[in-house]
Formats: sequence, C-alpha cells, structure tokens
Amino acid sequence: MTVTIEQAGLMLADPLSYTDEERLHQGLALLRREAPVHFVQAPGFQPFYAVTRQVHVREVEADGALWLSEPRPALAPAASERAKTGSRVRTLVNMDDPDHRVIRAIGADWFRPKAMRMLESRVRELAREYVDRMAGLGGECDFATDVAVHYPLSVILSLLGLPESDYPRMLQLTRELFGAQDAELGRDGGKDNRMAVLLDFFAYFQELTAARRARPTDDLASAIANALVDGQPLNDVETMSYYVIIATAGHDTTSSTIAGGLQALLQNPGEMARLREDPALMPAAADEMIRWVTPVKEFMRTASADTVLGGVPIAKGESVLLSYPSANRDEDVFADPFTFDVGRDPNRHLAFGFGAHYCLGAALARIEIRALFAELLPRLESIEPAGFPEWTATTFVGGLKHLPVRYKLRADKQR
Ligand code: HEM
Repeated sequence: MTVTIEQAGLMLADPLSYTDEERLHQGLALLRREAPVHFVQAPGFQPFYAVTRQVHVREVEADGALWLSEPRPALAPAASERAKTGSRVRTLVNMDDPDHRVIRAIGADWFRPKAMRMLESRVRELAREYVDRMAGLGGECDFATDVAVHYPLSVILSLLGLPESDYPRMLQLTRELFGAQDAELGRDGGKDNRMAVLLDFFAYFQELTAARRARPTDDLASAIANALVDGQPLNDVETMSYYVIIATAGHDTTSSTIAGGLQALLQNPGEMARLREDPALMPAAADEMIRWVTPVKEFMRTASADTVLGGVPIAKGESVLLSYPSANRDEDVFADPFTFDVGRDPNRHLAFGFGAHYCLGAALARIEIRALFAELLPRLESIEPAGFPEWTATTFVGGLKHLPVRYKLRADKQR
C-alpha cells in the first residue's frame, strides 16, 4: 500500500509506525523526496515540521543559538507539554547554552578516550560474560531480552559505580521510561506514564547522592554528586536529572543497536561471513549497525527567531522534528542507503546527533558494540532466526524488543 505525504508526516507521531520499518522507510523516503521540511498536525500533538534530509538536520543542529532544545526537546503529547509534567526533570538534552556547556562538562571527562581505555577491559569482560550466558541457554534464546538488554546496562552501571544488586531495578525503570508508549514494556500497559517512572528514579538516586557525598568513590556517580558549579553543588533536581540521562541514554540505545545489528547480520549472511573472515572490519561494521538501526528516532528544536529552513519559512516559537532514521537513509549522502554493508566507508551517519549535543557516550557505545560482536562471532558455529522479531512501539528510542534465535555456540572462544 502506498503512503501519502500526509500519512508519512503523521507516522512520525505514531509509536506503532516504528514497528513496521518497511512502511516507515517508504514514508520517510517520500518526505525526503517531495517535502523535506513538512508541516505536521497530528491529533494530540502540537504541530511541528518534520525534517528528513541530512543536510537540514545538520543545519539545525549546527546552530544552537537559533535552534533551541528548550522548551520542546523531543516529541511528547500536547497534554503532557501543557501540564509541563517534564518541567522538574532538566537533563542535558533539555538544556541550551550557557547551562548546557557547564553541566555537560561535569560528566565529559568520564567519556574521554583515557577513561574509555580504562573501561574497555571491563567492557570486554562483560561481553564475554554475556556470550557465556548465551552459551549456557541451551541453543535457543530471545537475543534481545536475554543478552542485548542486560549487557549495556551493566556497562553503564559499572561506569556509574552502582552495586550489581541494583541492576534489575534500573533495568525495569529504564525500560518503563523508554517503552512508555509500548503496551508490553510501559507501566500500566503503555499509558505513557513517564512522570511516575521518573519519580521512582528520583527516589533511588536521592539515596545514591547522599551516600556519595558522605563517602566519595572513584566513579561517575561521585563526580556528579560532588560537582561544583560556581562553587555550589548541583541541587537535587539537577543531580537526579544527570543520573537519569546517563542511566537511560546509555542503555536502550546500545541494546537496540546490538539486537538490530545481529538481525542485520542474520538477514545478510554474506556480510556476516565477511565480518567473521575479516575482524579488522569490526569498527566499520559497528558503525553500520548504528546507522542501520538508528535507535534514537528523533530530537526536536524550537526556533528562537523567524527563519527559513529548506525554503520553508518557520516562525519564532515553532518546532522542528529531526528524523535521524531518515537522515541515515538519505540518498544524497549514502551510496545504496538500504544496503547493509559491514565495510561502509565513509559512513557519515547522524545516529549520534551533531553539534553541541552530540552523544556524550558515542565512544562508549562503539566500544560496547564492537566488544560484543568480537566475542560472539568467533564462537558461533551456526545461528538462525527461531521466530518473528518484534519492534518497540515508540516515537523516541527503541528497536527490536524480541529476537528469537537458534544457535550453536562454543563454550570457550578459541584463540
Ligand atoms: C548506539 C548507541 C547510542 C546512540 C545511537 C545515541 C544517540 C544519541 C543522540 C541522537 C543524542 C542527541 C544528540 C543531539 O541532540 O545532537 C544523544 C545524546 C546523549 N547521549 Fe547518546 N546514544 C547512544 C549511546 C549512549 C551511551 C552509551 C551513553 C552513555 C552514557 C550516551 C549518553 C548520552 C548523553 C549524556 C547525551 C546528551 C548529550 C547532550 O545533550 O549534551 N549515549 N545520544
């Protein structure tokens, strides 16, 4: 069934449209071609312009003075925007300069190459642990829920310095937050109850802050709890918001990429064989998985002055939705954008965004994805689908929530 421009625009506000990738990409390709800056009035949402070409996404993200993250950093139902339910939480993605620069700097050291190199051996250890766990599952598992979901969370919680006994609680809260619109993952059957979930995060992190202020340790949680801005510690909301962005941004994004990356290899056995034969392709392959999956579906910006984007006049106060999945299939940027190519080079994808808000965890995400596949692929004797994959219903962050596979895996990696 063909999609009209009108329908394609509305898809961006419909969580279910992200569960049917073929139709979604049909709509996005149409928008790129016919209406790359397209006005969308979706029922239940404040209007926005859908921005689908990479050149325009870059243009918006490069100018943080004209295009602000506040007050509308991502798509949310109009009712919750009016009620300002999110106003207590102010994470990095909500902020503009000068606050953004100052607050981002607090955590930035923990994501620099030196810190990443130190974390790398822990990441490899965790990758091995999860592949061992997969080997122990008896030849069949749901790769998304049994492996992909747990591993990145363990990495993030190691970085924060949280005890392993708290992992299940964090896993549940993160999934409830990002899966808020999904009937299976969200709290109360997907009624988009994000505020209740955030309050639970707050309660947990309040205790953590008190503990790290009383007894600082060498981890990111202590850096946040004890950070000073103009000589003052962050207030409660600022501290909580920081933990929430780290715990959440680093999790579902990476797990969706890992599950979607395996799915792409299963659908392209030639690419799987190529990567196994030439492990030096792993960095390129990881980036291709990130482009292919594009787990962050959108962020938004609001014009601080009247302007024109792609020939379309946009008034001060109007918002644009930056469609990363579309920017990452842009025919003007990629040769054969719908081909999964583990050796793709160059690969100028925008899955990590661009400009001042460029993903703080990009280096970590790459390390994690490479480490998992570097551990898994040499140990695989065979792997095949064992049922239907299922996608998360979301307009924001997600990907495969189920990926049943059948496999033969050596217990020990042969070196
Ligand atoms: C494949 C995995 C990931 C993808 C695709 C991804 C994608 C993104 C995107 C699109 C943004 C917004 C960029 C923009 O507005 O221009 C972002 C921001 C952010 N990401 Fe990631 N991310 C991933 C993994 C991670 C990890 C592992 C962490 C680690 C904690 C992380 C932490 C953050 C933070 C803190 C921000 C906010 C940065 C800011 O606003 O200044 N992300 N990410």
